[in-house]
Amino acid sequence: MSWIQVFSPATIGNIGPGFDVLGMAVKGLGDTVYARRIRSGIRIAEVKSPTPIPSDPRKNTAATAASNVFRFLNVRGGIELRIHKGLPAGSGLGSSAASAAAGAFAANWLYGRELSVEQLILAATQAEAEVSGGFFADNTAPALLGGTTLTRCCVPLDVTRIGVIRRLRLVLVTPGLTVLTREARKILPATVPMASFVFNMANTALITAAFAKNDYSLFARSLNDNVIEPVRARLITGFHQVKENAIKAGADGMAISGSGPTVFAITDNLRKARAIEQQMVLTFNALGVSSRSWVTTMDSHGTRLVEDARRRAAG
Ligand code: HSE
Repeated sequence: MSWIQVFSPATIGNIGPGFDVLGMAVKGLGDTVYARRIRSGIRIAEVKSPTPIPSDPRKNTAATAASNVFRFLNVRGGIELRIHKGLPAGSGLGSSAASAAAGAFAANWLYGRELSVEQLILAATQAEAEVSGGFFADNTAPALLGGTTLTRCCVPLDVTRIGVIRRLRLVLVTPGLTVLTREARKILPATVPMASFVFNMANTALITAAFAKNDYSLFARSLNDNVIEPVRARLITGFHQVKENAIKAGADGMAISGSGPTVFAITDNLRKARAIEQQMVLTFNALGVSSRSWVTTMDSHGTRLVEDARRRAAG
């Protein structure tokens, strides 16, 4: 059987106050999974990754998502995977979700493409839940659908694609710190004061409206989180200084990407984005924290087959 090549983008999820519900696909960063049908079983032939990830098919999200697809299709499928990760694990950029999305997409593609994208999101979300300790689709949904998504409910899954803000420029900075989603969820408060709930609800609703209307300025006004960010900021050395300096350099807002440690700043001006990136990196540096950074935009396509490589062996 010939190999297929599938690309799945990085994602920011949560977007600010939209904890576990709002997510966004990011252009230019992501995971590539090569896959082909085999007689039986799920085999991982290769893992290339900047950070260690499991190559045991029972623990790898690309493989478990593929296995979920076989269960949903009710087939005794076999698949061989080569996983080339462009995303470091534990970065807050939806690394495990990107692999899961690509694994689910590839298995469905090779076995008749009968599942809907919602079923693929469910297959990928179930796979991701095993590593993250929570059942949320704010990374898997935008990874598969592209653009921005809102999850109303996970069981049964109800996800809506909202849209894209074309002027949006994203400055992503990943400091060299470790934040595990599982741990970053444990520290969250069990109850929230009514005023914080109302504040976050209003800002989440306005971000949704901003993406639906392609309205950058509404998004910039609404990227405010009074519930999750104040708690998780403690896990990111220098968070407040980096945010202050990003805004001084011209950013219209900054928030934690997912559970961190990546942070993202927003602007609608590419030149400003470069200056913001430089300030953020310098600020982390001054605190003894090295980082990687990117200036990018949104990905509006989501997980896809890379057509021109369909017949190329993946080695
Ligand atoms: N919504 C999840 C969280 C995303 O913030 O815990 C983790 O990437």
